[in-house]
Amino acid sequence: MKLMPIDVKSLIHEGAELTDRALEALLPSAETVPASIHGAMRHSVFAGGKRLRPVLAMQSAITIAGALPSGIERLGAAIEMLHTYSLIHDDLPALDNDDLRRGKPTCHVAFGEAIAILAGDALQTRAFEVLAGLDAPPAATVQIIGLIANAVGTVDGMIGGQVLDIESEGRKPTPELVEAIHRAKTGALIRVSVVAGGVYAGATAEDAARLDTFGRKAGLAFQIVDDVLDMTVDSAHLGKTAGKDQATEKATWPAVFGIEQSRRDAASLIEEAFAALAPYGSRADGLKAVARYLVERKN
Ligand code: IPE
Ligand code: IPE
Ligand code: MG
Ligand code: MG
Ligand code: MG
Repeated sequence: MKLMPIDVKSLIHEGAELTDRALEALLPSAETVPASIHGAMRHSVFAGGKRLRPVLAMQSAITIAGALPSGIERLGAAIEMLHTYSLIHDDLPALDNDDLRRGKPTCHVAFGEAIAILAGDALQTRAFEVLAGLDAPPAATVQIIGLIANAVGTVDGMIGGQVLDIESEGRKPTPELVEAIHRAKTGALIRVSVVAGGVYAGATAEDAARLDTFGRKAGLAFQIVDDVLDMTVDSAHLGKTAGKDQATEKATWPAVFGIEQSRRDAASLIEEAFAALAPYGSRADGLKAVARYLVERKN
């Protein structure tokens, strides 16, 4: 059999387009009353995110089912709403106080702080409403909702990680602390994107455990790379303010291990992650290619 090299850029592009179309259909129009909040939600959602979490969910589903299950773009869209909510709140003056996101003014800069807080809240509730209506068997839908709520929550989830991140500013970070922050604030949503995509496609408990192992490693690698990019790429290319982490004395991977070690750690985490996918053979090639992109990306 001839091996076709995977064109990861088009694979991501196609997944992102599917996600964007679903988001367009699922979010209230900018004219829907009250228009200010719908304009704010759309401003942040359509500012140009990479859509990597929906793409991971899609490739994970292909790993399990061999093809893209219909309706999975709505799972991806819900995850992207949650991710965008986390970014809007991450940028608020009370958290990272950023004015640039996805190459555009942050939500609170464009719409004011009150509407930005509410737009984040609204993206979260709309995400769960969309999840409740997924086109999967009821048991899988309920499982996905529980997994995602947990990943966004306070115990080893996104919100808990954000708390640790904020409370660690200005303190000397330890390896254990940075790992805990990264696994929670960013790793959890990446991991659950992979697992939820699999469950949507009919993953068994054994499949879900493998995807979880893969997603944990890829999720940690993703935030290590985010930290490295903050130090090595300029704001114009990042679409967000570069050099912020050092300026605010954040607990980052490079702050503990240095840039070169951070790059090596991210690369070896991805290699380790691949081991969990061995039983799926070439069906996991797309998922692996996206994971490799997570650490090779330049923004
Ligand atoms: C940025 O995530 C925030 C982190 C969790 C590190 P992405 O790099 O996926 O940002 P977008 O969605 O492409 O803007
Ligand atoms: C963000 O981490 C994590 C979440 C949004 C949950 P960062 O604060 O490092 O993300 P960026 O660099 O602002 O995108
Ligand atoms: Mg932050
Ligand atoms: Mg930030
Ligand atoms: Mg960052």
